[in-house]
Amino acid sequence: MTDTVFGDSVPAVVQSAPSRFDAYDTADLWRKDVDHYIHPFTDFEVWKNEGALVMAESEGAYVYDSDGKRYLDAQGGLWCVNAGYGRAEIADAMAEQARRLAYYSPFTNTTSVPGATLAHKLASLAPGDLNHAFFGMSGSDANDTAVRIIHFYFNRLGQPNKKTIITRVNSYHGSSYLAMSLTGVAHDHIGFDIIGEPLIARVEGPDVYRRSGEMTPEEYTDHLVDGFKSKVEELGADNVAAFFAEPIMGAGGVLVPPPGYLPRMREACREFGILYVSDEVVTAFGRLGHFFASEDVFGIQPDIINSAKGLTSGYAPLSATLLSDDIYDVISVPQAPGAEFAHGYTYSGHPVSCAAALANIEILEREDLCGHVRTVGPYFEERLRTLADLPIVGDVRGKNFMMCLENVADRDTKEMFPPEVEIGRRISDACDARGLLVRPIGRLNVLSPPLILTTDQIDWLVDTLRAGIEEVTAGLEREGLWSGG
Ligand SMILES: Cc1ncc(COP(=O)(O)O)c(C=O)c1O
Repeated sequence: MTDTVFGDSVPAVVQSAPSRFDAYDTADLWRKDVDHYIHPFTDFEVWKNEGALVMAESEGAYVYDSDGKRYLDAQGGLWCVNAGYGRAEIADAMAEQARRLAYYSPFTNTTSVPGATLAHKLASLAPGDLNHAFFGMSGSDANDTAVRIIHFYFNRLGQPNKKTIITRVNSYHGSSYLAMSLTGVAHDHIGFDIIGEPLIARVEGPDVYRRSGEMTPEEYTDHLVDGFKSKVEELGADNVAAFFAEPIMGAGGVLVPPPGYLPRMREACREFGILYVSDEVVTAFGRLGHFFASEDVFGIQPDIINSAKGLTSGYAPLSATLLSDDIYDVISVPQAPGAEFAHGYTYSGHPVSCAAALANIEILEREDLCGHVRTVGPYFEERLRTLADLPIVGDVRGKNFMMCLENVADRDTKEMFPPEVEIGRRISDACDARGLLVRPIGRLNVLSPPLILTTDQIDWLVDTLRAGIEEVTAGLEREGLWSGG
């Protein structure tokens, strides 16, 4: 990388604090944070006792805490820092746009230079006839937008009964009221209310590792598709509007679908007259080696694709809901006088975010980061799979730069550790101490690094993760929490 802050000279071991980090008063920041900042998805008890790690700076695939400790960020922020940290080019584009025109209303008949340019660019990158972009700020609001547009579409077609949205167990679609209701991760619903049937219905989602019985992967595909068809028949196809699916389920456990599953689900939707929405908030913009994964990786052409995260590589909040010509044609036909398409946000297509996205896409294209992922991704997968010899690693799965370890108490029976063992967190803590960030989700550790990762960094990451897991395993044995070794 030539436009980064530190250059290539950063050693691969945890650095001692450079003097500029003295400017951060970690204890003061820690106190302010604990007293006033409510974090998303937080165990308040742990946070109140331990506080938060204060992240201060970044470069390439690394982040630095406020004491100057360096970490290889194998989380890519939160599945999003695809182009890597410290991209001066993106920062400059944002600053330049803020100076020229920080903001103007996107409502009715005004647009911005980067907004129009980005919508055109996305139409050229998206598969098939997904030629129309609606911009929001997050993956959650992109999914809300998709539901609103789908309902508007069927209302306009004179099919007002078509309202139910079908999603899958273990899917993640966001955290607004509606997006969390679309989400099928049961853990995320604890203590909250969600919207259920008839607006949102759930079907079984693929989990190849934990599938029940003796089904082959192919039989498992049949089973899942049959389950979906039965659900549609139970609800009545005339009442079902759309099916939402991540190509690979992310937060639900990096669940790769069994062979032929997505094309068959796509086909089933077509048969029933149900719209197919690909939630590519994680998978778009290179994580699986292509700008969009639906067609290039899985061979399906959705009616709608949602994207966010890697669209700006996390430099600014932005989402894009990409609609087919057919949907656009229906929703854009004039309504009764005075009626309009009354949906949108103050910050839809924010000019600074769109400028960030354009600079980000320019980098992804110029450096062929999708090609890099296609080349290096299989090496990452192969190296991570070597961890399957560790006695608490039950499954290593995923694709390219979207990977996950499932940790288990017993590899033969796939028995899980009790939740209080917090196996994923123990491993991530052991890795943190070694300067590696891997995300704990329950019993899992998820890896979604920046797409610039080199093979040397992959080797260090895998060796460090192995050492972390070995240390945790020894600790569990000492505490009498595991004796499987
Ligand atoms: C597949 C998917 N959809 C939607 C979202 C929600 O995105 P956001 O957190 O930007 O609202 C996420 C977030 O992780 C996601 O993984």
